[in-house]
Amino acid sequence: MISSSCLARTLIPAMAFLSCLRPESWDPCTEVVPNITYQCMEVNLYNIPENLPSSTENLDLSFNFLRHLGSHNFSKFPELRVLDLSRCGIQVIEDDTYQGLNQLSTLILTGNPVQHLDLRTFSGLSSLQKLVAVEINLNSLEDLPIGHLKTLKELNVAHNFIHSFKLPEYFCNLSNLEYMDLSNNQIHNIYHKDLQVLYQIPFHNLSLDLSLNKIDFIEPGAFKDIKLQKLVLRSNFDSMDVMKTCIQSLAGLEVYELVLGEFKNERQLNEFDKSALEGLCNLTIENFRIAFFDEFSLDDIGVFHCLENVSAVSLLNLYVNHLERIPKEFRWQSLELIDCDLEQFPTLTLSSLKRFIFTANEVSNTFGELDLQSLEFLDLSKNGLSFRSCCSSRDFGTVRLKHLDLSFNEVISMSSNFVDMEQLEHLDFQYSTLKRANAFSVFLSLTKLRYLDLSYTNTHVTFDGFFHGLFSLEVLKMPGNSFQGNSLPNILTNLGNLTFLDLSNCQLETIDPTALNPLGKLQVLNMSYNKLLSLDLFPYENLSSLQVVDVSFNRIVTLQIQERYHLPNKLTLLNVTQNDFACACEHQTSLQWIKDQRQLLVDVEQMLCATPAGMKGLPVLSFRNTTCQMSKTIISVSVLMVIMVSLVVVLVYKFYFHLMLLAGCKRYGRGECTYDAFVIYSSHDEDWVRNELVKNLEEGVPPFRLCLHYRDFIPGVAISANIIQEGFHKSRKVIVVVSKNFIQSRWCIFEYEIAQTWQFLSTCSGIIFVILQKVEKSLLRQQVELYRLLNRNTYLEWEDNALGQHIFWRRLRKALLAGKPQNPEGTPDADMQPEATSAM
Ligand SMILES: *[C@@H]1O[C@H](CO)[C@@H](O)[C@H](O)[C@H]1NC(C)=O
Ligand SMILES: *[C@@H]1O[C@H](CO)[C@@H](O)[C@H](O)[C@H]1NC(C)=O
Ligand SMILES: *[C@@H]1O[C@H](CO)[C@@H](O)[C@H](O)[C@H]1NC(C)=O
Ligand SMILES: *[C@@H]1O[C@H](CO)[C@@H](O)[C@H](O)[C@H]1NC(C)=O
Ligand SMILES: *[C@@H]1O[C@H](CO)[C@@H](O)[C@H](O)[C@H]1NC(C)=O
Ligand SMILES: *[C@@H]1O[C@H](CO)[C@@H](O)[C@H](O)[C@H]1NC(C)=O
Ligand SMILES: *[C@@H]1O[C@H](CO)[C@@H](O)[C@H](O)[C@H]1NC(C)=O
Ligand SMILES: *[C@@H]1O[C@H](CO)[C@@H](O)[C@H](O)[C@H]1NC(C)=O
Ligand SMILES: *[C@@H]1O[C@H](CO)[C@@H](O)[C@H](O)[C@H]1NC(C)=O
Ligand SMILES: *[C@@H]1O[C@H](CO)[C@@H](O)[C@H](O)[C@H]1NC(C)=O
Ligand SMILES: *[C@@H]1O[C@H](CO)[C@@H](O)[C@H](O)[C@H]1NC(C)=O
Repeated sequence: MISSSCLARTLIPAMAFLSCLRPESWDPCTEVVPNITYQCMEVNLYNIPENLPSSTENLDLSFNFLRHLGSHNFSKFPELRVLDLSRCGIQVIEDDTYQGLNQLSTLILTGNPVQHLDLRTFSGLSSLQKLVAVEINLNSLEDLPIGHLKTLKELNVAHNFIHSFKLPEYFCNLSNLEYMDLSNNQIHNIYHKDLQVLYQIPFHNLSLDLSLNKIDFIEPGAFKDIKLQKLVLRSNFDSMDVMKTCIQSLAGLEVYELVLGEFKNERQLNEFDKSALEGLCNLTIENFRIAFFDEFSLDDIGVFHCLENVSAVSLLNLYVNHLERIPKEFRWQSLELIDCDLEQFPTLTLSSLKRFIFTANEVSNTFGELDLQSLEFLDLSKNGLSFRSCCSSRDFGTVRLKHLDLSFNEVISMSSNFVDMEQLEHLDFQYSTLKRANAFSVFLSLTKLRYLDLSYTNTHVTFDGFFHGLFSLEVLKMPGNSFQGNSLPNILTNLGNLTFLDLSNCQLETIDPTALNPLGKLQVLNMSYNKLLSLDLFPYENLSSLQVVDVSFNRIVTLQIQERYHLPNKLTLLNVTQNDFACACEHQTSLQWIKDQRQLLVDVEQMLCATPAGMKGLPVLSFRNTTCQMSKTIISVSVLMVIMVSLVVVLVYKFYFHLMLLAGCKRYGRGECTYDAFVIYSSHDEDWVRNELVKNLEEGVPPFRLCLHYRDFIPGVAISANIIQEGFHKSRKVIVVVSKNFIQSRWCIFEYEIAQTWQFLSTCSGIIFVILQKVEKSLLRQQVELYRLLNRNTYLEWEDNALGQHIFWRRLRKALLAGKPQNPEGTPDADMQPEATSAM
């Protein structure tokens, strides 16, 4: 019998294995777009994967080992649009393999050693537009069973063994064909009959690439009256003579674009002979391109005489000299010179030229003059040129220039502010070094300019009028420059049409809060890679079009979040990654804002704290504001404790004696009173005390015992201790003799203050005030406490007449008797019980 744990041990891996086979797992393929695109390139497949959803539209099965495709093998994927079967070692494609793929528009079969193609190999592909059958051992176009693919637009059969250019009958059915690549085959001869179908049905827009076929012979007139969109003949001829005859044989062809030349790594011809192009006079050409001729020299400009009426010429990778000899009357509208070798900058004079692209050429390093009166588009980028004086219409011989690209050159010295160049809309100086741009408002006249790229031009903006005049500017790229004081001043005032502003990498530390105010149409603001310490979006609240703000790679410690906060309402993307966020409680509003706005923020999970040390390297999102609450409490509690301790210290210091009293009270208790009253008086009133008070009370009936300091204080003991121990602790009551003298004597007041406390502590006893002489109210008021007590307690006034004195003594005795124990042993009063008990 199997124990249950044993069963579990076998079941769990089995279930795990089964769960791997659930349809959600596309292993070994990669899901690029869910349910749509699957990438199964080079994953050792021997079969078509079955676990992909039937909604798959794009399937890449390249570099596997499918070898044999059976019929209906793809019927599981009726939605397929693109199927890539490159280099799968496919040898057999059975009939009806692609049956059911009615949506398929692109089929790629590159690099399969297909042995046989049957009539029904491509059946069912009713929407196929592009068939790539490169390197599939194809011997002839006749073998390709595609006559029914009426939707086909592009057929690529390059790199096969096709030896005849004969276009088979079935091409009549392919009336949508636009592009056919026959390059790198074995076609040597082209005959008139090969192109027969092109006469039967006109392909007005067919492009043909015949490059890399070693063509020896073209039957003259083979292309007569044929119209092609494009004909490419590169690296086809192994001698100049063959080339010349073949081109002559193209007579009568009408082609929109003719491409001649060689490839960088496939060169057949050593020297170019100008006569080779003579045959072009019998062709109709719009665009002419020629590339990669080692020794292509324009020494004799006759080379181009058959091309005087073309509208566009491209010269790529040639050695070109004396371009200036091209006659003024040539009707060229566009001329491209790319990657060519020239001895000096060509001083061209071509009255019809509208577009001149002169880029990435090797040329001596100074810009010469151009005289191109129709020129609108000029690209002089990447030539390592220096411009001694830029820019005015005289330099280019045109007042129509709209597009000027001087990027990636050497030094450009600004000397004239675009005189007569008001039509300019696009100006690019990036990665060239601008000189003297601060001397005056360089761009003042460019009121139509919409695009200005000054990236990495070593410009240090010190002049407030730098951007003056650019009223129409929409895109301004300034990265890699700098501003005076590393601060962006308010110099963008004219740029109300700006939608894109790139100020990245400008070493900016601060931004004038009003600097961006004029930019009401701004959509993208890039201030990444600067040295900003904080970000305040508040000044941008009125930039109603702002969508993207990039302030990544700065030193931002915190975002300044204002009370009434309005984000620009179209803002959808804010990049504040790679900054130095301080994840401390003092910035918790900012950190909370980051959490609240995470939809807006780019890569918010990757944003890391830089300080404090404890948080360094942790995600900003991991900051918890509860710790702030806690530390707040801790701080407030400790502050409170410090305050209380100091208060206690102060109180202890202040009421040292009172505390001693309190201690004493506990010690002595009520029962040990030896005196009936402790008398507090000023020494000035001692006569009255001796003669009246002592006489009347101590010698009267019943006799009272008074504590008088002159008589009862123990000599040698500190006076304060005496007051407390002898005076208060051993007396039931305190008699305070109030007089003018008393109020003025500080000592008395001290004693009296202690008495007050004592009275407070031992509730039962009390202070009896004796007013010796009428005291002025104002004097009394100085002793606030005393004044208050006098008002609250009953007090006795000493009278001068006998009757008054009689009443006085009666009342005093009565007051002293109050609370005096009947019993000489001192049985405590009922309400004194607790204190008495605790004292024993
Ligand atoms: C993919 O298809 C499955 C089944 O048809 C469906 O449940 C799922 O929602 C789809 N997923 C997406 C991202 O469309
Ligand atoms: C492909 O077809 C072959 C032969 O018809 C068949 O054996 C094989 O199972 C099929 N494969 C798929 C994935 O349909
Ligand atoms: C052209 O298409 C028709 C029907 O679409 C077909 O019958 C005919 O065989 C095709 N022609 C060739 C040469 O394949
Ligand atoms: C002509 O063919 C080219 C591709 O070779 C294509 O881009 C262009 O749109 C086509 N023009 C027309 C008018 O069909
Ligand atoms: C142009 O073609 C005509 C006849 O087709 C021929 O006589 C003439 O020599 C050709 N011109 C050139 C320059 O090949
Ligand atoms: C160019 O056009 C002009 C006028 O249409 C014509 O006289 C001239 O022969 C043409 N040149 C060439 C090479 O076709
Ligand atoms: C924007 O450009 C237009 C056209 O150049 C101009 O008329 C308008 O004044 C500019 N707007 C601002 C705010 O400068
Ligand atoms: C901002 O500029 C930097 C580099 O200068 C660039 O990497 C980044 O993509 C730009 N940001 C946006 C949003 O375009
Ligand atoms: C935005 O506009 C409102 C209304 O014109 C104004 O009150 C506010 O001060 C402006 N905000 C900024 C930051 O300039
Ligand atoms: C900031 O994020 C945006 C959006 O992901 C991105 O395009 C931009 O390149 C980022 N900035 C930098 C400097 O990487
Ligand atoms: C602290 O975090 C909570 C929840 O994340 C939030 O509701 C609260 O407003 C935050 N408090 C402060 C002071 O930011």
